[in-house]
Amino acid sequence: MVSIAIMGHGVVGSGVAEIFTTHKQKLYASIGEEVYVKKILDLREFPDSPLADRFTKNFEDIINDLEIRVVVEVMGGLNPAYDFVKRCLKAGKSVVTSNKELVAAHGAELLEISKETNTNFLFEASVGGGIPIIRPMSQCLVANNVDEIAGILNGTTNFILTKMIEDGMQFDDALKLAQELGFAERNPAADIEGHDACRKICILASLAYGKHVYPDSVHTEGITKITLEDVRYAEAFHCVIKLIGSVKRLADGKIDIIVAPMLVPNKSQLANIDYEFNGIMVRGDCTGDVVFYGKGAGKLPTASAVVADVIDCCKHLKTRKFLYWADGNGKNILPWEESS
Ligand code: HSE
Repeated sequence: MVSIAIMGHGVVGSGVAEIFTTHKQKLYASIGEEVYVKKILDLREFPDSPLADRFTKNFEDIINDLEIRVVVEVMGGLNPAYDFVKRCLKAGKSVVTSNKELVAAHGAELLEISKETNTNFLFEASVGGGIPIIRPMSQCLVANNVDEIAGILNGTTNFILTKMIEDGMQFDDALKLAQELGFAERNPAADIEGHDACRKICILASLAYGKHVYPDSVHTEGITKITLEDVRYAEAFHCVIKLIGSVKRLADGKIDIIVAPMLVPNKSQLANIDYEFNGIMVRGDCTGDVVFYGKGAGKLPTASAVVADVIDCCKHLKTRKFLYWADGNGKNILPWEESS
């Protein structure tokens, strides 16, 4: 049996706990032992939860429990997530997170600590919700130099834009609906002002180019100024408006990275990715275009990616399943190198 803890019982955290309950047999079969959710950290009370006896408000209950080998961080935000994750890795516990703000700001450092402590730090759910993208980029596409990545990386804004385009719904009403459906961040400004998409394209760029690309170095525009009139103008040009995160490799080896609402021609694959779905095109120099598509937000899609990472950690408790990626000269950089 492998004991784990979950820090955060919001939309994603409750989904993770649910999958470990509803898919117990399936998960047992994949690693040959039970994954036991021993502790759940949250300051709120959940008396009706079937796991009510596992809740704690005290992080020390997790860090000091030597049986807990893997910790899931799904609290979101930088504080206290950054401190807690660092302490878990230093204490020899592997960490799985869906927290793109944390990975985009401190991914290089946390990977370095996990290397030093022979633990794993995995973050598949930080980009694209239920879509596999971190593993494909760091493993399946590793033979490629990545020429470009372009993606619809935020489900909330894609949902809002789809509702404006298809139903003529006003921006505020569509945002409210996205919040009710559990797609939006705790503070939806991160969605509608483009910061969430920015964090995600930075994580993908860091994986692709072996340099830690920080969000504050990226020009970022959200969709708050998009009106129904803009949507109609785009239609007249046979386009739709999508919030796109894009990174391209330039001839001089530098990268060009931006997040902004863009006109996407109707015939483009990205134009037909609607509602909370995300779509990510990765252009490799060997593969050409590879497109990933699926639910980029929501409880169970995101929890599915978290649980997969936990299972991976459980399988690799003694050996590191290390994220490797290479720079443009084919030299391995372990892990992300700080960009100068
Ligand atoms: N708020 C995010 C989104 C959740 O709407 O895409 C998933 O990262």
